[in-house]
Amino acid sequence: MPLVSMRQLLDEAAKGGYGVGAFNVNNMEQIQAIMEAARETKSPVIVQASRGARQYSQDKYLYHLMLAANELYPEIPLVLHLDHGNSVETCKSAIELGFTSVMMDGSLMPDGKTPSSFDYNVQATREVVAMAHPKGVTVEGEIGCLGGIEDGHGAGLDGLSHLTDPAQAAEFVKLTGLDALAIAIGTSHGAYKFAKKPTGETLKMDRLIEIHKLLPQTHLVMHGSSSVPKDLQDIINQYGGKLKPTWGVPVEEIQLGIKNGVRKINVDTDNRLAITGAIRKVFFEKPEEFDPRSYLKPAREAMKKVVALRMTQFGQAGHAEDYAPLPLSVMAARYEQKRAA
Ligand code: G3H
Ligand code: 13P
Ligand code: ZN
Repeated sequence: MPLVSMRQLLDEAAKGGYGVGAFNVNNMEQIQAIMEAARETKSPVIVQASRGARQYSQDKYLYHLMLAANELYPEIPLVLHLDHGNSVETCKSAIELGFTSVMMDGSLMPDGKTPSSFDYNVQATREVVAMAHPKGVTVEGEIGCLGGIEDGHGAGLDGLSHLTDPAQAAEFVKLTGLDALAIAIGTSHGAYKFAKKPTGETLKMDRLIEIHKLLPQTHLVMHGSSSVPKDLQDIINQYGGKLKPTWGVPVEEIQLGIKNGVRKINVDTDNRLAITGAIRKVFFEKPEEFDPRSYLKPAREAMKKVVALRMTQFGQAGHAEDYAPLPLSVMAARYEQKRAA
Protein backbone atom coordinates (compact mmCIF):
# COMPACT_ATOMS: atom_id res chain seq x y z
CA MET A 1 0.00 0.00 0.00
CA PRO A 2 1.22 3.58 -0.59
CA LEU A 3 1.86 6.04 2.24
CA VAL A 4 -1.59 6.97 3.54
CA SER A 5 -3.51 10.05 4.56
CA MET A 6 -3.37 11.07 8.22
CA ARG A 7 -7.02 12.09 8.04
CA GLN A 8 -8.05 8.50 7.46
CA LEU A 9 -5.99 7.26 10.41
CA LEU A 10 -7.46 9.90 12.69
CA ASP A 11 -11.03 9.28 11.50
CA GLU A 12 -10.54 5.59 12.26
CA ALA A 13 -9.03 6.43 15.65
CA ALA A 14 -12.07 8.59 16.45
CA LYS A 15 -14.39 5.74 15.52
CA GLY A 16 -12.41 3.36 17.70
CA GLY A 17 -11.95 5.84 20.57
CA TYR A 18 -8.15 5.63 20.61
CA GLY A 19 -5.17 7.93 19.99
CA VAL A 20 -2.28 7.59 17.55
CA GLY A 21 1.29 8.50 18.50
CA ALA A 22 3.21 10.68 16.06
CA PHE A 23 6.90 9.99 16.45
CA ASN A 24 9.68 12.24 15.15
CA VAL A 25 12.48 10.81 13.06
CA ASN A 26 15.78 11.99 11.62
CA ASN A 27 17.50 8.78 10.55
CA MET A 28 17.18 5.12 9.60
CA GLU A 29 17.43 3.68 13.11
CA GLN A 30 14.53 5.77 14.37
CA ILE A 31 12.34 4.72 11.44
CA GLN A 32 13.29 1.09 12.02
CA ALA A 33 12.48 1.36 15.73
CA ILE A 34 9.01 2.73 15.00
CA MET A 35 8.23 0.15 12.32
CA GLU A 36 9.33 -2.74 14.53
CA ALA A 37 7.20 -1.40 17.38
CA ALA A 38 4.26 -1.05 14.98
CA ARG A 39 4.63 -4.63 13.77
CA GLU A 40 4.96 -5.98 17.29
CA THR A 41 1.86 -4.11 18.49
CA LYS A 42 -0.04 -4.19 15.18
CA SER A 43 -0.38 -0.42 15.12
CA PRO A 44 -1.14 2.14 12.44
CA VAL A 45 1.63 4.73 12.49
CA ILE A 46 2.36 8.43 12.02
CA VAL A 47 6.02 9.18 11.36
CA GLN A 48 6.82 12.88 11.40
CA ALA A 49 9.76 14.99 10.35
CA SER A 50 10.49 18.54 11.43
CA ARG A 51 12.19 21.12 9.25
CA GLY A 52 15.39 20.28 11.11
CA ALA A 53 14.94 16.59 10.29
CA ARG A 54 14.37 17.38 6.64
CA GLN A 55 17.55 19.42 6.54
CA TYR A 56 19.54 16.81 8.44
CA SER A 57 18.45 14.05 6.06
CA GLN A 58 18.54 16.21 2.92
CA ASP A 59 14.86 15.32 2.50
CA LYS A 60 15.52 12.55 -0.02
CA TYR A 61 17.22 10.16 2.39
CA LEU A 62 14.29 10.44 4.73
CA TYR A 63 11.69 10.04 2.01
CA HIS A 64 13.34 6.97 0.54
CA LEU A 65 13.78 5.42 3.98
CA MET A 66 10.04 5.87 4.42
CA LEU A 67 9.38 4.14 1.12
CA ALA A 68 11.59 1.29 2.30
CA ALA A 69 9.63 1.10 5.55
CA ASN A 70 6.40 1.00 3.61
CA GLU A 71 7.67 -1.81 1.42
CA LEU A 72 9.04 -3.85 4.32
CA TYR A 73 5.94 -3.46 6.52
CA PRO A 74 3.05 -3.68 4.05
CA GLU A 75 0.54 -4.49 6.77
CA ILE A 76 1.10 -1.17 8.59
CA PRO A 77 -0.87 1.94 7.52
CA LEU A 78 1.93 4.51 7.45
CA VAL A 79 1.65 8.31 7.32
CA LEU A 80 4.52 10.70 6.58
CA HIS A 81 3.73 13.99 8.29
CA LEU A 82 5.52 17.36 8.29
CA ASP A 83 5.90 18.56 11.88
CA HIS A 84 5.70 22.33 12.50
CA GLY A 85 5.79 23.62 8.95
CA ASN A 86 6.70 27.30 9.40
CA SER A 87 5.31 28.61 6.11
CA VAL A 88 3.14 27.81 3.12
CA GLU A 89 6.34 27.27 1.12
CA THR A 90 7.64 24.64 3.56
CA CYS A 91 4.33 22.77 3.38
CA LYS A 92 4.37 23.00 -0.41
CA SER A 93 7.83 21.47 -0.66
CA ALA A 94 6.81 18.65 1.69
CA ILE A 95 3.74 17.86 -0.41
CA GLU A 96 5.83 17.93 -3.57
CA LEU A 97 8.26 15.47 -2.01
CA GLY A 98 5.49 13.03 -1.05
CA PHE A 99 4.47 13.81 2.52
CA THR A 100 0.86 12.65 3.00
CA SER A 101 0.15 15.12 5.79
CA VAL A 102 1.48 18.55 6.74
CA MET A 103 1.32 20.81 9.75
CA MET A 104 1.03 24.51 8.99
CA ASP A 105 2.09 25.97 12.32
CA GLY A 106 0.77 29.47 11.82
CA SER A 107 0.68 30.08 15.56
CA LEU A 108 4.18 31.47 15.02
CA MET A 109 5.49 33.69 12.25
CA PRO A 110 7.75 32.06 9.62
CA ASP A 111 10.77 32.76 11.87
CA GLY A 112 9.36 29.99 14.08
CA LYS A 113 9.69 32.22 17.15
CA THR A 114 7.33 35.17 17.10
CA PRO A 115 3.71 34.52 18.07
CA SER A 116 1.50 35.49 15.12
CA SER A 117 -1.88 37.18 14.85
CA PHE A 118 -5.10 35.19 14.49
CA ASP A 119 -5.63 36.63 11.01
CA TYR A 120 -2.17 35.60 9.82
CA ASN A 121 -2.70 32.10 11.16
CA VAL A 122 -6.10 31.75 9.46
CA GLN A 123 -4.76 33.01 6.16
CA ALA A 124 -1.65 30.77 6.10
CA THR A 125 -3.58 27.68 7.19
CA ARG A 126 -6.35 28.29 4.65
CA GLU A 127 -3.76 28.59 1.93
CA VAL A 128 -2.22 25.26 2.88
CA VAL A 129 -5.65 23.59 3.04
CA ALA A 130 -6.43 24.92 -0.46
CA MET A 131 -3.16 23.47 -1.72
CA ALA A 132 -3.22 20.13 0.17
CA HIS A 133 -6.81 18.91 -0.01
CA PRO A 134 -7.02 18.66 -3.81
CA LYS A 135 -4.11 16.23 -3.49
CA GLY A 136 -5.75 14.29 -0.64
CA VAL A 137 -3.08 15.51 1.80
CA THR A 138 -4.08 16.12 5.42
CA VAL A 139 -3.58 19.46 7.19
CA GLU A 140 -2.91 20.05 10.87
CA GLY A 141 -3.04 23.60 12.23
CA GLU A 142 -2.21 25.10 15.60
CA ILE A 143 -3.91 27.73 17.67
CA GLY A 144 -2.24 29.01 20.84
CA CYS A 145 1.51 28.58 21.41
CA LEU A 146 3.38 25.79 23.10
CA GLY A 147 6.15 26.52 25.55
CA GLY A 148 9.84 25.84 25.08
CA ILE A 149 12.15 25.98 22.14
CA GLU A 150 13.61 23.10 20.16
CA ASP A 151 16.22 23.45 17.47
CA GLY A 152 15.30 27.09 16.97
CA HIS A 153 11.55 26.39 16.79
CA GLY A 154 9.32 27.85 19.47
CA ALA A 155 8.62 31.18 21.11
CA GLY A 156 10.72 30.23 24.15
CA LEU A 157 7.76 31.05 26.40
CA ASP A 158 6.53 29.05 29.34
CA GLY A 159 3.68 26.71 28.47
CA LEU A 160 1.02 28.92 30.02
CA SER A 161 1.53 32.27 28.24
CA HIS A 162 -0.46 31.50 25.09
CA LEU A 163 -3.06 28.87 25.98
CA THR A 164 -5.66 28.10 23.32
CA ASP A 165 -8.84 30.10 23.65
CA PRO A 166 -11.77 27.69 23.04
CA ALA A 167 -13.99 30.17 21.18
CA GLN A 168 -11.08 31.21 18.98
CA ALA A 169 -10.29 27.55 18.29
CA ALA A 170 -13.86 26.99 17.09
CA GLU A 171 -13.64 30.03 14.82
CA PHE A 172 -10.27 28.88 13.51
CA VAL A 173 -11.58 25.43 12.55
CA LYS A 174 -14.57 26.97 10.80
CA LEU A 175 -12.48 29.47 8.84
CA THR A 176 -9.71 27.08 7.78
CA GLY A 177 -11.38 23.71 7.13
CA LEU A 178 -8.35 21.89 8.54
CA ASP A 179 -8.28 18.21 9.51
CA ALA A 180 -6.60 18.27 12.91
CA LEU A 181 -6.04 21.00 15.48
CA ALA A 182 -3.03 21.31 17.77
CA ILE A 183 -3.87 23.15 20.98
CA ALA A 184 -1.80 24.72 23.73
CA ILE A 185 -2.75 23.50 27.20
CA GLY A 186 0.47 24.07 29.14
CA THR A 187 2.86 21.59 27.53
CA SER A 188 6.25 22.49 26.06
CA HIS A 189 8.63 20.84 23.65
CA GLY A 190 11.75 19.20 25.04
CA ALA A 191 12.68 17.59 28.35
CA TYR A 192 12.02 20.51 30.70
CA LYS A 193 8.25 20.81 30.73
CA PHE A 194 7.34 20.92 34.41
CA ALA A 195 9.42 21.53 37.55
CA LYS A 196 7.27 19.02 39.43
CA LYS A 197 4.54 16.56 38.59
CA PRO A 198 1.97 18.70 36.74
CA THR A 199 -1.29 19.63 38.40
CA GLY A 200 -4.42 21.23 36.94
CA GLU A 201 -2.64 24.56 37.45
CA THR A 202 0.16 23.74 35.03
CA LEU A 203 -1.38 21.17 32.66
CA LYS A 204 -4.79 22.49 31.64
CA MET A 205 -6.77 19.36 30.87
CA ASP A 206 -9.95 21.28 31.74
CA ARG A 207 -9.17 23.62 28.84
CA LEU A 208 -8.81 20.65 26.51
CA ILE A 209 -12.17 19.27 27.63
CA GLU A 210 -13.78 22.67 27.04
CA ILE A 211 -12.34 22.79 23.50
CA HIS A 212 -13.55 19.26 22.77
CA LYS A 213 -17.06 20.21 23.92
CA LEU A 214 -17.12 23.09 21.42
CA LEU A 215 -15.51 21.01 18.65
CA PRO A 216 -16.63 17.40 19.16
CA GLN A 217 -15.92 16.46 15.53
CA THR A 218 -12.39 17.93 15.38
CA HIS A 219 -9.36 15.72 15.83
CA LEU A 220 -7.28 17.34 18.57
CA VAL A 221 -3.49 17.09 18.69
CA MET A 222 -1.35 17.20 21.80
CA HIS A 223 2.19 18.44 21.15
CA GLY A 224 4.94 18.30 23.73
CA SER A 225 3.53 15.01 24.99
CA SER A 226 6.63 13.15 26.07
CA SER A 227 6.31 11.77 29.57
CA VAL A 228 10.05 12.19 30.30
CA PRO A 229 10.11 9.04 32.45
CA LYS A 230 12.46 9.08 35.44
CA ASP A 231 14.01 5.73 34.50
CA LEU A 232 15.15 7.14 31.15
CA GLN A 233 16.56 10.24 32.86
CA ASP A 234 18.35 8.03 35.38
CA ILE A 235 20.08 5.89 32.74
CA ILE A 236 21.48 9.01 31.08
CA ASN A 237 22.71 10.44 34.39
CA GLN A 238 24.06 7.10 35.60
CA TYR A 239 26.35 6.95 32.58
CA GLY A 240 27.76 10.45 32.74
CA GLY A 241 24.85 12.60 31.54
CA LYS A 242 23.77 15.79 33.26
CA LEU A 243 20.00 16.09 33.05
CA LYS A 244 18.36 18.26 35.67
CA PRO A 245 15.34 16.76 37.46
CA THR A 246 12.23 17.31 35.34
CA TRP A 247 8.68 16.12 34.69
CA GLY A 248 6.79 15.43 31.49
CA VAL A 249 3.14 14.78 30.67
CA PRO A 250 1.85 11.79 32.67
CA VAL A 251 0.46 9.07 30.40
CA GLU A 252 -2.81 9.04 32.37
CA GLU A 253 -3.38 12.70 31.42
CA ILE A 254 -2.84 11.81 27.75
CA GLN A 255 -5.34 8.99 28.18
CA LEU A 256 -7.82 11.50 29.63
CA GLY A 257 -7.17 13.62 26.54
CA ILE A 258 -7.87 10.65 24.28
CA LYS A 259 -11.26 10.24 25.99
CA ASN A 260 -11.85 13.90 25.07
CA GLY A 261 -11.05 14.15 21.38
CA VAL A 262 -7.25 13.83 21.28
CA ARG A 263 -6.37 11.65 18.28
CA LYS A 264 -2.72 12.52 17.62
CA ILE A 265 -0.05 12.61 20.31
CA ASN A 266 3.40 14.00 19.46
CA VAL A 267 6.38 12.29 21.05
CA ASP A 268 10.01 13.02 20.32
CA THR A 269 11.86 13.70 23.57
CA ASP A 270 11.16 10.30 25.17
CA ASN A 271 12.77 8.60 22.19
CA ARG A 272 15.73 10.96 22.26
CA LEU A 273 16.22 10.12 25.93
CA ALA A 274 15.99 6.37 25.30
CA ILE A 275 18.52 6.53 22.46
CA THR A 276 20.96 8.71 24.38
CA GLY A 277 20.79 6.53 27.50
CA ALA A 278 21.48 3.36 25.51
CA ILE A 279 24.44 4.91 23.70
CA ARG A 280 25.92 6.35 26.90
CA LYS A 281 25.66 2.93 28.54
CA VAL A 282 27.68 1.26 25.77
CA PHE A 283 30.29 4.03 25.78
CA PHE A 284 30.63 3.71 29.53
CA GLU A 285 30.66 -0.07 29.79
CA LYS A 286 32.64 -0.86 26.63
CA PRO A 287 35.03 2.03 26.03
CA GLU A 288 37.04 -0.18 23.67
CA GLU A 289 34.10 -0.38 21.18
CA PHE A 290 34.17 1.69 18.01
CA ASP A 291 31.77 -0.08 15.66
CA PRO A 292 28.73 2.22 15.42
CA ARG A 293 26.47 -0.82 15.31
CA SER A 294 27.55 -1.74 18.83
CA TYR A 295 25.72 1.32 20.18
CA LEU A 296 23.16 2.03 17.45
CA LYS A 297 21.56 -1.40 17.84
CA PRO A 298 20.87 -0.99 21.58
CA ALA A 299 19.76 2.59 20.87
CA ARG A 300 17.27 1.38 18.28
CA GLU A 301 16.02 -1.32 20.63
CA ALA A 302 15.58 1.19 23.48
CA MET A 303 13.54 3.49 21.24
CA LYS A 304 11.46 0.58 19.99
CA LYS A 305 10.51 -0.29 23.57
CA VAL A 306 9.35 3.25 24.32
CA VAL A 307 7.35 3.47 21.09
CA ALA A 308 5.70 0.07 21.57
CA LEU A 309 4.72 1.05 25.11
CA ARG A 310 3.20 4.34 23.96
CA MET A 311 1.34 2.59 21.12
CA THR A 312 -0.22 0.31 23.69
CA GLN A 313 -0.97 3.14 26.13
CA PHE A 314 -2.53 5.35 23.44
CA GLY A 315 -4.73 2.47 22.29
CA GLN A 316 -3.62 2.25 18.64
CA ALA A 317 -2.19 -1.24 19.24
CA GLY A 318 -4.16 -3.95 17.48
CA HIS A 319 -5.74 -1.57 14.92
CA ALA A 320 -3.31 -1.86 11.98
CA GLU A 321 -5.51 -4.18 10.02
CA ASP A 322 -8.94 -2.77 10.87
CA TYR A 323 -9.36 -0.96 7.58
CA ALA A 324 -8.08 -0.76 4.01
CA PRO A 325 -6.02 2.39 3.49
CA LEU A 326 -7.55 4.71 0.89
CA PRO A 327 -5.49 6.21 -1.92
CA LEU A 328 -4.92 9.98 -1.65
CA SER A 329 -7.06 10.40 -4.79
CA VAL A 330 -10.08 9.06 -2.87
CA MET A 331 -9.37 11.45 -0.01
CA ALA A 332 -9.11 14.30 -2.53
CA ALA A 333 -12.49 13.38 -4.02
CA ARG A 334 -14.02 13.39 -0.52
CA TYR A 335 -12.70 16.87 0.21
CA GLU A 336 -14.05 18.07 -3.13
CA GLN A 337 -17.47 16.56 -2.45
CA LYS A 338 -17.58 18.26 0.96
CA ARG A 339 -16.46 21.57 -0.53
CA ALA A 340 -19.10 21.44 -3.24
CA ALA A 341 -21.92 20.49 -0.81
O1 G3H B 1 8.80 20.11 17.53
C1 G3H B 1 9.69 19.54 18.11
C2 G3H B 1 10.18 18.21 17.73
O2 G3H B 1 10.71 17.59 18.88
C3 G3H B 1 11.21 18.27 16.62
O3 G3H B 1 12.36 18.81 17.09
O4 G3H B 1 12.97 20.64 15.49
O5 G3H B 1 14.69 19.56 16.99
O6 G3H B 1 13.74 18.31 15.03
P1 G3H B 1 13.51 19.36 16.08
P1 13P C 1 8.14 16.31 23.01
O1 13P C 1 9.30 17.22 23.06
O2 13P C 1 7.35 16.35 24.30
O3 13P C 1 8.50 14.92 22.66
O4 13P C 1 7.14 16.85 21.90
C1 13P C 1 7.36 16.58 20.55
C2 13P C 1 6.47 17.39 19.66
O5 13P C 1 5.49 17.99 20.06
C3 13P C 1 6.85 17.43 18.24
O6 13P C 1 6.02 18.27 17.49
ZN1 ZN D 1 5.32 20.00 18.45
